[in-house]
Amino acid sequence: MIFQPKFKRRPARIAILVLVLGSLLAWQSALAFHPNIYQPRVPSELLENARENESPFLDSPEILEEGRQIYFGKGLCVTCHSKNGTGVRLPGHSPRNFTDAKWQDLRTDGELMWVLKNGSPGTGMPIRVGKAITEEEGWKVIQFIRSFNSTEQK
Ligand code: HEC
Repeated sequence: MIFQPKFKRRPARIAILVLVLGSLLAWQSALAFHPNIYQPRVPSELLENARENESPFLDSPEILEEGRQIYFGKGLCVTCHSKNGTGVRLPGHSPRNFTDAKWQDLRTDGELMWVLKNGSPGTGMPIRVGKAITEEEGWKVIQFIRSFNSTEQK
């Protein structure tokens, strides 16, 4: 009977430990982006699959125009990524500069789709596909983002 209070206290200590570890982990994943913009945003174990995910749409002026309307309209992309795609300055980590040809070369459409579906954890890039826009609209806006590429012939 004398030992009972001791046994009762133990779960509380475990709960505190779990809380501390949990918040440490949450803190880590909140910072789970790389300051180097060329590093993939897709977690390494998912990267190969994400890279192979291809758009169902071929390049066409119609899809490009629909993508443009999503970018400036319901996707709200323009509020952070700006009219010319270079991006506005945000506190912390700023949006991607879509005119950067090296970045455009490194990423496949599938990787961009992953970011549209999952956001970029630890940054202001929000989940878009499944929230503000559909997957189909996501592919269209990706085609439009490609048109910001500084090496693209227009
Ligand atoms: C609230 C601000 C905000 C909005 C709205 C927003 N973005 Fe972003 N976006 C960001 C930030 C910040 C980053 C940089 C994230 C990083 O470096 O990982 C980013 C990065 C990206 C990237 C680069 C991912 C990569 O792999 O490098 C793409 C593509 C992108 N956004 C597309 C979009 C599209 C399309 C929309 C609209 C449907 C949109 N964003 C709306 C803030 C925003």
